[in-house]
Amino acid sequence: EKSGFDDFMSKEILEQPGALRDTLAGRLASSGELILDETTSDPDSLARINKVFIVACGTSYHAGMVAKYAIEHWTKVPVELDISSEFRYRDPVVDERTLVVAVSQSGETLDTLAALHEAKNLGAQTLAVCNVVGSSMARLADTVMYTRAGPEVGVAATKTHTAQIGALLLLALNLARTKGQLYPSEIDALYEELTLVPAKIQEVLNSWDAIGEVAKRFSGSSRFYFIGRHVGYPVALEGALKLKEISYLPAEGYPAGELKHGPIAMLDEMAVVVAIATRTRLYEKIVSNIEEVRARNSSVIIIGNPGDEGQANLGESFISVPRVHPLFAPLVDVVPLQIFAYHMARNLGMDVDRPRNLAKTVTVE
Ligand code: M6R
Repeated sequence: EKSGFDDFMSKEILEQPGALRDTLAGRLASSGELILDETTSDPDSLARINKVFIVACGTSYHAGMVAKYAIEHWTKVPVELDISSEFRYRDPVVDERTLVVAVSQSGETLDTLAALHEAKNLGAQTLAVCNVVGSSMARLADTVMYTRAGPEVGVAATKTHTAQIGALLLLALNLARTKGQLYPSEIDALYEELTLVPAKIQEVLNSWDAIGEVAKRFSGSSRFYFIGRHVGYPVALEGALKLKEISYLPAEGYPAGELKHGPIAMLDEMAVVVAIATRTRLYEKIVSNIEEVRARNSSVIIIGNPGDEGQANLGESFISVPRVHPLFAPLVDVVPLQIFAYHMARNLGMDVDRPRNLAKTVTVE
């Protein structure tokens, strides 16, 4: 039910504060312990984990990338990450001390389901992060953590993506507690701070029209590069995927430090570079990467925090988003990119809910 919205995608983008709030709500027991949804494994088994392996496709994979930064930072447990269709056909090194996390909105994506099967066969512990209750992955995994984003109809994943990141951050905090890497008081404080993020996302949503204006300025552009560093890198990949998926415009995402290893050769006055330049860990470095882009006369759209607008001189576009904890930044920074892709696609007359050649749930290889 679109309930008065032009399409499901805009409705679902706007539902993100609630989706994230519901995913985070009630997850902290009075003991400070984080609560997962369903588990058949004994509580001690998580304590024995010495490696996490995340498998996913598409947008869910990008959420998994964010999780890698957070889990390694807070728990010191190494995290490997693989695209499901690669994982299932190589020889992944996992054993009973590995926690394999399948991230999937639908819980039905064939490659991720097969990767989960493979992980079980190899004796790993398994966790599914899904949005659909009772889905195949939820039934297969030892433990389930549901994202409570509500049904997502638009083919482009939006609210389920931010909910996935929220759920995976909770997993990171849970593991940090299990591993004794964070004090319970630190976990409480981080959880508290995380629960404030939905209100920050709401602030971004209030810039809907302003982001539409930026999209209008670039409606004639035909080549986009998204760059970011640290957790801004998965955000860049996701911004590029959203734009490709619904507008069909060529868009690539890169870790900004890689520019001079190849992609910078493509930059000219026709290129548009979208830089995720919020105050996360490598802020100074992304600023110097933006300078490199400017020197090639490409247009720059900056996603930045209030007070940094000064960077957007030369008539370039600056989209301001609230500053949050550096590891929570993807939850906020990805939202203007969803809205940007939405406007670009609409301006080109595309069907944002049903992009060509794509299915909401990919149940074939
Ligand atoms: O249901 P899943 O999360 O497993 O789906 C994975 C991908 O097919 C999905 O995220 C896809 O990339 C989205 N349509 C992107 O918006």
